Order: sequence, then C-alpha cells, then structure tokens
Amino acid sequence: MDPSHGTHDEAVRSRFSQTADAVGRLSDERAERLAARVRHLLTTLGTERALDAGTGTGALAFALAPLVREVVAVDLVPELLDQGRARGAAAPNVTFAEGDITRLPFEDGSFDLTGSLMVLHHTARPELAVAEMTRVTRLGGTLLIVDQVAPLDPLAALELNRFEAARDPSHVRALTDQDLRGLFEANNLVAVRDELREEHRDLGSYLDLAGCSGPERERAEQLAPGHDSYQTTVGWYVLEKRPYGA
Ligand SMILES: C[S@@+](CC[C@H](N)C(=O)[O-])C[C@H]1O[C@@H](n2cnc3c(N)ncnc32)[C@H](O)[C@@H]1O
Repeated sequence: MDPSHGTHDEAVRSRFSQTADAVGRLSDERAERLAARVRHLLTTLGTERALDAGTGTGALAFALAPLVREVVAVDLVPELLDQGRARGAAAPNVTFAEGDITRLPFEDGSFDLTGSLMVLHHTARPELAVAEMTRVTRLGGTLLIVDQVAPLDPLAALELNRFEAARDPSHVRALTDQDLRGLFEANNLVAVRDELREEHRDLGSYLDLAGCSGPERERAEQLAPGHDSYQTTVGWYVLEKRPYGA
C-alpha cells in the first residue's frame, strides 16, 4: 500500500468531520438544482441499483433516489454519513455505509449505475477510485463522474491546486479534462454525454465551507486565483462501461 494513503485518509476525515454541518447545509441549498441536472443527464428505468461513491451527506444519493430502485451511499467520514442519515426520511431507498472508494466492499458488477460527485480531487489515487467504481458497475451500466477540472495550462493548474490545497488540506489535485478522459479510456468507459460548466464561488463562503481560518485563511486568500469571487470548471461525464476489446 502507498504509505501516504493512510495519512491522506486522516486528512479527509479531519477536514470533513469538522465541517459536516456546513457540507450538509450546502447540499440542502443545492438539492433541487442537482436533482434537475441529474434528471437532465441520466435516463433510468427505475429498477436500477445505484452507488454514490464519496456521498458526503448524501447529495447525489438523494438526487438519484427518485429515479432508481435503491441507492447505496458510501463515504469515509462517519460524521458526514450521520448528517445524511438524519436527512434520509424522505428517501427510504437510500442506505448509508462507511467505506473507501479505492477499496469498495462490493462484488464485481453489483450496480447498474455508479456516481461520484466532487470526490476524485480528494483522493490520493484517483486511478484506483475510477477502477473500483468501474469494477462494481455491471457491463453496459452507467457511471456519472463529476469533478473539478484543472486548466490545461500547467501553470494555471498549479495555481489552482495550490490555492485549493491551502484552503483544504484534503485536496490532492484537480485533474485536467484530458487526464480524466485518459482514466476513463483505461477502464473502457465511453463518454455518452459530457459537459464542462463554469462555476462562480464567493471566496469567503468557499473558505468558510472548508473551515479555513487563521493564518491558513490568509495564505489561501493570497493564493486565490480571483479576488472576492473565484471561478472554476466542473466536468460532468456520463460514461458507459463497455467490455474490453469492444
Ligand atoms: C467535496 S466532498 C463531496 C461530497 C458529496 N459527494 C457532495 O457532492 O456533496 C468530497 C467527499 O469525498 C469523500 N472522500 C474522499 N476520499 C474518499 C475515499 N477514499 N473513500 C470514500 N470517500 C472519500 C469525503 O469524505 C467527502 O465526503
């Protein structure tokens, strides 16, 4: 095992256990918009078994719940899962479970649909996370992978990642669209739909969301690519799992 792996998981647990309330509140605010986007991107039968990998407080799981039979929502951080369970009354087909998306505790091909929302940039080994999400999805099944996308210009990408890591020590690296597509291709995932969308974030609220305060906040403010507002790109990829050689 990569010796840095355990340490990084601790960084994720530390950041998100301290900010679980704020993550939950933001998910509540964004719930309707996210549900509309998911309905726009995915076509479902209503019989699917779905996985939300890195669910946090359940944002994607709750958006998927009305469209599928069942959603299993997995995250490393118990405090986030507790927030999700507390919101679960309206979605009895969502189950929350602790787990690591780079070592998913599920059989091969056990889901029809696997999603992950804003998680890959928090993982030390995104290639393992994509391989695991692919493994647990059945052939012909769908993956919805959404993540912050770094600029192609290496210096701009460095600037972005430096700022994000100063704001939040559990940020590892936003990949470029090209890097992400390379990971998908390596797993025989074919993009059936994709969109790159610009998002504007108020800098103060964005730093608050990560619990970034004191000298770390000053440093992050200095490194912020914008001033009061900060613009970033989010990639939305709907992928089909094809057999090897297809
Ligand atoms: C930015 S949050 C996004 C949460 C949620 N998907 C949402 O959009 O509200 C990143 C999430 O990834 C989770 N995470 C990071 N690494 C993980 C891993 N190896 N296994 C499971 N969850 C992980 C964190 O605990 C956190 O909930």
